[in-house]
Amino acid sequence: LSPARAAEDSARPLVMAHRGASAYAPENTLAAVDRAAALGVDWVENDVQRTRDGELVVLHDDSLQRTTDVEEVFPDRAPWKVKDFTAAEIARLDAGSWFGPAYAGARVPTLEQFVHRVERHRQKLLLEIKNPRLYPSIERQIVKVLGNEGWLDRRHVRDRLIVQSFSADSVRTVHDLRPAVKTGFLGTPPVADLPAYAAFTDQINPSYGSLTAGYVAAVHAFKGVHGKPLEVCTWTVNDAAAARRVAGFGVDGIITNAPDVVRDAVRG
Ligand code: G3P
Ligand code: CA
Repeated sequence: LSPARAAEDSARPLVMAHRGASAYAPENTLAAVDRAAALGVDWVENDVQRTRDGELVVLHDDSLQRTTDVEEVFPDRAPWKVKDFTAAEIARLDAGSWFGPAYAGARVPTLEQFVHRVERHRQKLLLEIKNPRLYPSIERQIVKVLGNEGWLDRRHVRDRLIVQSFSADSVRTVHDLRPAVKTGFLGTPPVADLPAYAAFTDQINPSYGSLTAGYVAAVHAFKGVHGKPLEVCTWTVNDAAAARRVAGFGVDGIITNAPDVVRDAVRG
């Protein structure tokens, strides 16, 4: 790693590129991973779902409509749900032109392709299991792919991988399948409920809008499933003033579309 990347490695709060550096390149594409790397950003967040024929792909919405040309390519397949398309069909789609002509031809990556690119840049992965109720047993499948790709070895598990979801059941399932993997719950549970979450997660990751210093301190007061204080990574913070505000609350990570803006604000 460059000296700058090494310094960033130990700096807090962590700066995490949301769907890649998605302010500058189409979200959840390899181009967005590359842009995060070019900005010197270690952590990349993504969203994982499943195709009709069982391939794991990286896309945020449960429909392909917003971020691909699926309407043009498959006009009769409304509402264009990921789960209703095969991997081969999705691989034909342009996932970049909606963002800008420079990205024409960008593809919806498979989880394998995404992980390879993160690995090539020696980055770290904040993997979100999206809409798990649509995809029975997706947790087991994600764990299998991560294992096949070497992402469950000790080095990756220790400090290069976090698996998170809005579904507590999904987070708990990942923990039960691979107890060593660091996990995060997306949401803002009442403080009284935090001990229950701490039985299977390391992080409580709330939206930043109504976040308070008191809530961050309350979360930190509990130990997570691996015996360290529960962490807080908040989203999606895209301007300097909000980044400084949440950094002042003592958050552990900031998930952002514009990681350069947030890094400048919190390290400045
Ligand atoms: O990483 C947190 C954030 O991504 C959760 O919201 O809708 O952008 O997936 P969303
Ligand atoms: Ca996400």
